[in-house]
Amino acid sequence: MLKLSSVPIQNKGVKEILETKYQEIINQIHVQIADGRLQPGEKLPSIRSLSEDYGCSINTIVKAYSELEKEHKIYSVPKSGYYLVGSRHFEHDPSQEMIDFSSAGPDKWNMPYRDYQHCMNQAIELYKEEMFQYSEPLGLSTLRFQLSKQLQELQVFAPAERICVVSGSQQALDILVALPFPNGKEEICIEQPTHFSMIESISSRALNAIGIEVTSDGIDLNNLEKIFKERPIKFFYTVSRFQNPTGYSYTNKEKKKIVELAKKYNVYIIEDDYMGDLDTRKKSDPMFAYDPSGRVIYTKSFSKVLLPGLRLGEAVLPDSLIDSFTKAKFAADVHTPVLTQGALEIYLQSGMYGAHIQGLRKIYKKKGEILKQAFYTYLPDEVTFTGAESGFYSTIQLPSHMKASHLVHSLKKKNVLVQDATGMYLPQYKKENVIRLSVSQVEDTKIAEGVRRLGEEVVALLR
Ligand SMILES: Cc1ncc(COP(=O)(O)O)c(C=O)c1O
Repeated sequence: MLKLSSVPIQNKGVKEILETKYQEIINQIHVQIADGRLQPGEKLPSIRSLSEDYGCSINTIVKAYSELEKEHKIYSVPKSGYYLVGSRHFEHDPSQEMIDFSSAGPDKWNMPYRDYQHCMNQAIELYKEEMFQYSEPLGLSTLRFQLSKQLQELQVFAPAERICVVSGSQQALDILVALPFPNGKEEICIEQPTHFSMIESISSRALNAIGIEVTSDGIDLNNLEKIFKERPIKFFYTVSRFQNPTGYSYTNKEKKKIVELAKKYNVYIIEDDYMGDLDTRKKSDPMFAYDPSGRVIYTKSFSKVLLPGLRLGEAVLPDSLIDSFTKAKFAADVHTPVLTQGALEIYLQSGMYGAHIQGLRKIYKKKGEILKQAFYTYLPDEVTFTGAESGFYSTIQLPSHMKASHLVHSLKKKNVLVQDATGMYLPQYKKENVIRLSVSQVEDTKIAEGVRRLGEEVVALLR
């Protein structure tokens, strides 16, 4: 850990000394960054130890660190400490560095902990009274109003009364899986592979599900029509952009066609737009925009753009499902915690959310570009891939005789973590030769090296 050397300051007034110490700490860190003594990613001394070294108050150190945070020189990790921004230089032995393509969380270095903390503090004040009693099952009406406004930016036009706040979008999906639908049908159609938690919801209730394969070209719409026509499909669950795990995003033409088919065969659509905010294609519409009447049930998550631990999501429901959904939500957890709801409302209303999203779009887009380039450079011809450009999820399909679990195991020994996608299939559609990569938590500078090791390992296993 870095040690900052303190230089005593003489002949100064108390206020001046405090000001000087605060500036001195900042200057020392600047100097140590410039001369390389302090490396990107390195942990800074704790606030307490630095205040002892400098013989100054904890507040002085906090002020200095906050200033450096504002300059984006350092960042804080709750319960851990302060770190220098940037990735470490691994000049010694890059092959020893762990590269984690398996974690599905958002980019840790760009999450607005501090801003959200302010919003939480304000929410405690603002919603003090509400916290002494139970609140509305579908969420605070003031938050639902803000969500209705924010959704307009995604071409989702729905009044606050149709929007419900859920404890993570998974809660909405799970409730909808179990609810009877107005079309009276009982089977569910899902993309294959798909979001693991949705498979869990379906299988935990022993419901019948029909799969439709997603490839790098999307789904076969003729097959979808056949399924809608021949099976009693209650709803089609689709992740319309940045699909998990393939990274596939439908074109507007495909989305329009899917909605037309749903209308024609009286099928509902659950459009999981969990990362819609991150779409940089300005003209890309959600399926909801092609039928806002309620045929398309729209869900959105705040886990990938804010913090998964907040458990915040939303769903736009048809009028016909609001009563039954409200009862089910009440039965599940009465309502989503008021404090996190209140903080989200403040975060949205203050404009912080909009600014944060603008930044994130660029970050994930860049990651996608780097990953795609690395796939082209390092993957052998024997494999195919999907969704490299998504900036989040992508898959690699190995030759059929190769097991994903073997590759996961041998890559771990090379310090690369990837996910076996076997659990992302329904049992009857299972493929055991697909791995999922999540690039969100891998620093840009490590992406190519991770893919290089992956390509090398695939070649070794092929031999
Ligand atoms: C397709 C999909 N939808 C939704 C979510 C997020 O769910 P939640 O809002 O419950 O955290 C995820 C998380 O990985 C996901 O992959």
